[in-house]
Amino acid sequence: MDHFLYKDGVLHAEDVPLAEIAAQVGTPFYCYSTATLERHFRLFDEALEGLDHLVCFAMKAASNQAILTFLAGLGAGMDVVSGGEYARARAAGVPGERIVFSGVGKTRSEMRMALEGGIRQFNVESEPEMEALSAIASEMGVIAPITVRVNPDVDAKTHAKIATGKAENKFGIPISRAREVYAHAARLPGLKVVGIDVHIGSQLTDLEPFRQAYRKVADLTRTLRADGHDISRLDLGGGLGIPYEHGNSAPPLPVEYGRMIHEELGDIGCEIEIEPGRLIAGNAGVMVAGVIYVKSGEGRDFLILDGAMNDLIRPAMYDAHHDIVPLNEPAPGVEKRPYDVVGPVCETGDTFARARQLPPLEAGDAVAFRGAGAYGAVMASEYNTRPLVPEVLVKGDQFAVIRSRPTFDEMINRDTIPPWV
Ligand code: LLP
Repeated sequence: MDHFLYKDGVLHAEDVPLAEIAAQVGTPFYCYSTATLERHFRLFDEALEGLDHLVCFAMKAASNQAILTFLAGLGAGMDVVSGGEYARARAAGVPGERIVFSGVGKTRSEMRMALEGGIRQFNVESEPEMEALSAIASEMGVIAPITVRVNPDVDAKTHAKIATGKAENKFGIPISRAREVYAHAARLPGLKVVGIDVHIGSQLTDLEPFRQAYRKVADLTRTLRADGHDISRLDLGGGLGIPYEHGNSAPPLPVEYGRMIHEELGDIGCEIEIEPGRLIAGNAGVMVAGVIYVKSGEGRDFLILDGAMNDLIRPAMYDAHHDIVPLNEPAPGVEKRPYDVVGPVCETGDTFARARQLPPLEAGDAVAFRGAGAYGAVMASEYNTRPLVPEVLVKGDQFAVIRSRPTFDEMINRDTIPPWV
């Protein structure tokens, strides 16, 4: 459930008509609903009730300071994957003890930064990384808490570009090697093993792969404990999918996911961490774009928008489906027609949808891409020197621009011309 609904024929974000924001901010823009963010965060938090737990928002999904600050205020931890994300999380008021550091290529300076600023744990993904972290922590005279990310070799049944838990993926260490890697960690100075980490992929629409992975983690917990390791924390990653296609997909709900975690790990005596990103932010955001032209092609009409692949890359990159809805509710019974929905970027890949059934639209109308709150604005670029898409946050009947559209001068002045050119 989200808070983007038609009221009196116009699409609202909570109590604000999106057309009102469009008039003030211009299109394209992203708009997020605080009520939806809060609802989704609480669904996870409540699903783990009864377990000692922490919900760490995977902030790669949406990392605007206003969103992070809002979630931090609800008690969210953060899953960060870079020094930049770590800095954002701290700036949003997230204490170090609520930040987990994931990622396959943490640099030494990122490790130092997190050790200096405070960190709940590093989710270590390889032995070379473990050795680097050990050296840095020792040099600083501190102890780095770690989990090791294990790759359980289960098929997440999701898009190949976002599956991470198969043996052929670059993530984690093979679970079959876990005992030797943990023994290695225990020998290294400056490290303290606190648990196990697993994350098998994103946009999972079935609980079974999670269950298989978590079962393997439960077995591994017992084995590692028998080997003498202190396994008191399990980081179960993120990955729960969202319904991108209205009426045509119904992934499991957080409460069902939580129930499965209770079943598989409820009595293992570990603190449970999860790292959801998409489910918290995805349906809490839309991208609004204006129709520049409707062009009749051979056997099809093109809806040419002012939003493009640089603003929302998911369709071009993953063939992802986003529902597209007009800001003005179509009159009942109005006949839909197929449109190829495209942006102005000079690539055929700049296509959001082909033969999408939409009510008749004309230049000057605007549409919203649903489910765009996660991996939308964060993946945007300035390709074609199109200004980075702005972001707006709504709460009830208030809205605020939380990242403004840069001017052409601002964009140009970021470059410098050496005197010898
Ligand atoms: N934890 C780790 C270690 C991850 O790598 C990810 C996502 C998450 C948590 C959060 O997963 P989520 O709950 O959001 O599924 N750009 C792609 C998605 C990439 C996901 C990368 N890792 C997309 O637009 O679909």
